[in-house]
Amino acid sequence: MTLSRQIFDTVIVGGGGSGLRAALQLAEAGHNVAVFSKVFPTRSHTVAAQGGIGASLGNMQEDHWLWHMYDTIKGSDYLGDQDAIEYMCRKAAEVVYELEHFGMPFDRNPDGTIYQRPFGGHSQNFGERPVQRACAAADRTGHAMLHTLYQRNVRARCQFFVEWMALDLIRDYEGAVVGIVALEMETGDVMVFQSKATILATGGAGRIYQSSTNAFINTGDGLGMAARAGIPLEDMEFWQFHPTGVAGAGVLITEGVRGEGGILLNANGERFMERYAPNMKDLASRDVVSRAMDQEIKEGRGAGPEHDHVLLKLDHLGAEVINKRLPGIREIALKFAHVDPVREPIPVVPTCHYQMGGIPTNYYGQVVVPRGANPSEPVPGLYAIGECACVSVHGANRLGTNSLLDLLVFGKSAGDHVSEWLKTHPRHRDLPRNAAERSLERLARLDNSTSGERVTEVAADMRRTVQQHAGVFRTGTLLTEGVEKIREVGQRARSTAIGDKSRVFNTARIEALELENLAIVAEATLVSAQAREESRGAHAREDFKERDDKNWLKHSLWYLDGSRLDYKPVNLQPLTVESFEPKIRVY
Ligand code: FUM
Repeated sequence: MTLSRQIFDTVIVGGGGSGLRAALQLAEAGHNVAVFSKVFPTRSHTVAAQGGIGASLGNMQEDHWLWHMYDTIKGSDYLGDQDAIEYMCRKAAEVVYELEHFGMPFDRNPDGTIYQRPFGGHSQNFGERPVQRACAAADRTGHAMLHTLYQRNVRARCQFFVEWMALDLIRDYEGAVVGIVALEMETGDVMVFQSKATILATGGAGRIYQSSTNAFINTGDGLGMAARAGIPLEDMEFWQFHPTGVAGAGVLITEGVRGEGGILLNANGERFMERYAPNMKDLASRDVVSRAMDQEIKEGRGAGPEHDHVLLKLDHLGAEVINKRLPGIREIALKFAHVDPVREPIPVVPTCHYQMGGIPTNYYGQVVVPRGANPSEPVPGLYAIGECACVSVHGANRLGTNSLLDLLVFGKSAGDHVSEWLKTHPRHRDLPRNAAERSLERLARLDNSTSGERVTEVAADMRRTVQQHAGVFRTGTLLTEGVEKIREVGQRARSTAIGDKSRVFNTARIEALELENLAIVAEATLVSAQAREESRGAHAREDFKERDDKNWLKHSLWYLDGSRLDYKPVNLQPLTVESFEPKIRVY
């Protein structure tokens, strides 16, 4: 079957913050760029980011990029690669000021500088005391940022393919990536897009969990595409649980609430974080706060009739501060928890929020895979940025606000690197003869499925399994059972039926394709987590309570083929400064 084909210099899969930042860099340099997005770009999940962008501008108190770098490495529980972390923290001020010049409506201090608030794990002078480093636009920072970047891309004449889903990468016989196969969601048409460079910017896959702050579109499409193309997924055992999701609803309540002075209380009205993190208290890093909350609930000090959540108290901030700095939070609390935080505390629980792992890259965004003795050889023509990538700047636990920073810094660096790459690679490589075969086979299977389970049933089983077997606390027994269950779910996900085609919406096919991607991510998560016999960052094993640097200071790499694991070393060598050696982590 011959498919229609379009040709671009670069295709970018994903229209969120990282995709738009990379697209802007390329479009402004005069390249023809196509951005593919399942939703209108300003509805991408970046829009939900609330609290701020981490950058040591020093507008509120003295700050330094080296302190930010230290906090990031400590937050990562020393699994982050120190070259990439130095690169990100040094570039932070530059990308924030750029955004300011693009027209981003940041909150302002009386002297006109950008307002910055405290956030978990951000400190002055290597952990001494909290520092205000999160550059904020009220509690809608991601919203403001995404709109700013989108408008700037329109001005730069970037081309958007809205409501298109990318299905697969096309690799040629030498392994180079030469384009993608994509499907137009409205018509079901499939097309080949040939490119010199392809950037995956598909965001996270937090929908593998039952309770998640992630949008429904966060289905790990880029991870599925990479895994099917033979590229390993790095550090998939590390998932961040945000301490404050609205209990029962999963909607995010920004850490900025605690940054502005909000505190967590158990059922006895006790500010329990004083016991777990005497210095940073409610502003310890997220893994520490989430575990403390889980512990309080397990030990019977949870609030509410079921004793199943804790309380986030902010009434003492006063209506004026809440309305000025946290207006969206008040609205969310009213709508999803039916409480007005000006008067009552918000019921909250740790909720899946962010994947630290992803497609392995270097700090130029190039996808890198082990080859012979080299643990990181670039795949020609392929880049990944934002949450779908693992650079790795977040290691085993991300610092709040570093996600928006990550997508600005690495979106820009990938855009710049691709620009340079295009100078030395002016011609398109030939497409292989079977370019779309894999995608067409998957679609044909779905279209001819006369029997099989419904996507919603299999998806519900997948989410239940991941939630129960790879939660805040994990054990070997739970994980081993989880691996077995998720492999079975994976098989079911590859043989769902979309029902009577004359009676279903065309979204049924999309949901089935998304489930295949989610199931890959879920299996990578459980297999990687079961193998890692230590506790580090967000991966807390009750049967291996300590961090084990001797055996486990290394990144995992999960391959779809054979569901097998490999490992590569952590880069402890920064670019220009001295290494931060692993230490016991206390807050
Ligand atoms: O709490 C928040 O506003 C989330 C920020 C982040 O994940 O970086």
